[in-house]
Amino acid sequence: MNYSDLPPLVTSADGRFRVVNSTLAMAKALENIQRVSFPDLSDADLMLEPHFASHIRIFPDGQHVVVDTQTNQIAASSSDIMLELDFNHYQHRFFPAVGEGYFTTHDPKAHWLYGADIGVLPEYRSLGLSSLLYKARQELVVRLGLHGHYAGAMPKGYGAVRHEMPIEAYLHEVIRNERFDPVISIQLKRGYRIYGVIPDYLDDPSCANYGVVIIWRNPNLPW
Ligand SMILES: CC(C)(COP(=O)(O)OP(=O)(O)OC[C@H]1O[C@@H](n2cnc3c(N)ncnc32)[C@H](O)[C@@H]1OP(=O)(O)O)[C@@H](O)C(=O)NCCC(=O)NCCS
Repeated sequence: MNYSDLPPLVTSADGRFRVVNSTLAMAKALENIQRVSFPDLSDADLMLEPHFASHIRIFPDGQHVVVDTQTNQIAASSSDIMLELDFNHYQHRFFPAVGEGYFTTHDPKAHWLYGADIGVLPEYRSLGLSSLLYKARQELVVRLGLHGHYAGAMPKGYGAVRHEMPIEAYLHEVIRNERFDPVISIQLKRGYRIYGVIPDYLDDPSCANYGVVIIWRNPNLPW
């Protein structure tokens, strides 16, 4: 199938890349993006082809890919569900929160969109593709009238320096732009703000198992 025939949600300035909703035919490609995007993540926390097929069945609007219209390749993807956010009890573990990867915890009555993953194939990084996906997700939040988008982001630069400083000091340096984190710095640039830190969020040494709760609020709501 020519994926460029699918209705575009967001398009890059030069027209080469398009964000579209994922289809079942893409489930294997989504597994591949997941495997190369999270090489240090434990197998128990990885989402594979049957998980992605389940996401598309349960909440198709929340599943996005970036198509390279020159090659018809799926270059990047992101997966979301609707999940309530309790600001006083935001500690959680990743895999149970997302129904052991199958998105059975998706709650259509929830007020928040929860980011379960985002991955860009290595050869397509730094071309602005994650930014296209964040835009599509934020547009979904606005379209559905939700309060915002949140996630447990992986501070992937922290694992290498975890013996030198606590996570809070690391994040302060990232916020002040004194240090670049390959995940958190990009999310801050796209309008997300850090709300809290979750130890033991998942099993991945690159982020010392931490999740960082990041929030983007719907600007159309009277905060
Ligand atoms: C994190 C990830 C999704 C980013 O995707 P991407 O498409 O490469 O990101 P983009 O091109 O949209 O944005 C990169 C931004 O970082 C900036 N950047 C990159 N390296 C930088 C550096 N060393 N110092 C400062 N800024 C830097 C770029 O300039 C760009 O910002 P700009 O568009 O404002 O100029 C991608 O690296 C990835 O798939 N990683 C593996 C999976 C992962 O960790 N996912 C997140 C889990 S929570």
